[in-house]
Amino acid sequence: MIHENVNKAKKSQGCPSQNGGDMAKKQQEQQAMIKNSLAKIKHKIFVLSGKGGVGKSSVSANLAAVLSKKGYKTGLMDVDVHGPSIAHMLGLTELLDITPDQQMLAPKQVNENLKVVSVQALMQDKDQAIIWRGPAKSGMIQQFVGNVDWGELDFLIIDAPPGTGDEPLTVVQNIPEALGVIVTTPQEVALSDIRKSISFCKTVKLKTLGIVENMAEFKCPHCNESIDLFKNGGGEKTAQAQGLDFLGSLPFDTRVVTSGDKGIPIMFEDEKTPFTQAFEAIVDNILRQL
Ligand SMILES: Nc1ncnc2c1ncn2[C@@H]1O[C@H](COP(=O)(O)OP(=O)(O)O)[C@@H](O)[C@H]1O
Ligand SMILES: [Mg+2]
Ligand SMILES: [Zn+2]
Repeated sequence: MIHENVNKAKKSQGCPSQNGGDMAKKQQEQQAMIKNSLAKIKHKIFVLSGKGGVGKSSVSANLAAVLSKKGYKTGLMDVDVHGPSIAHMLGLTELLDITPDQQMLAPKQVNENLKVVSVQALMQDKDQAIIWRGPAKSGMIQQFVGNVDWGELDFLIIDAPPGTGDEPLTVVQNIPEALGVIVTTPQEVALSDIRKSISFCKTVKLKTLGIVENMAEFKCPHCNESIDLFKNGGGEKTAQAQGLDFLGSLPFDTRVVTSGDKGIPIMFEDEKTPFTQAFEAIVDNILRQL
């Protein structure tokens, strides 16, 4: 159904005046389904940043992992059409199912408490590039909220592509109560990009829980000396300057890379390391605010 709808969304870009009444009715139905889905989800957390490669998807996947381990019913939704990585990070290989009544998409169940939906799980060919335009992307995101059988959730974590384009805007328009978590690395290029994200949040009135600094400290595995790969402390300074909460700093840890590639987020692995401890502290900071 979702494939069909995406196609329709693509086609419908052509001539909006065609079947205008029909479209308006469909749109109303869609809005009602979105409302219905969201009403059953307590907290929506939107992970965003101005820059790619800073660790949004890793933070999203691990945040969802920790929350589900703590016993919270958690959903994880990947709306990064051009660089979906959540499916891989959680070891999901199959396409999504349809619910028995054929009305909804069934999210993938990772464990008892964690459900996942990724754009990648809709694609037959994982290496295929998606060349959707804005309206099709927005349609897909709306379907990920309204046409997915999320059920009752404590948390929905939304992993967005970098920047302030169609996808983040669609998320905010459809989930105005979402709370932003901004991810950055400590170096100036990333920080200047997240200042744009912060200004985006202010403009669209998205409340933010705060800033996470990622890939800050790296301990040399040979001599244990500390190396600041991307500098250090920039996340906290930016948070202060912008009047936002600083949620914490995550070290650079090669196990984040290997666990992500393996399809088991590091926070599922029950290891006590500087990374996992820093991550737990960040989750506690988030939970304290809710
Ligand atoms: N704290 C970290 N330490 C080491 N590698 C990390 C860390 N956070 C993310 N990575 C790695 O950096 C790369 C980009 O992370 P990703 O989460 O995909 O970023 P984004 O979603 O912002 O593009 C991935 O290979 C990921 O494994
Ligand atoms: Mg990503
Ligand atoms: Zn060394």
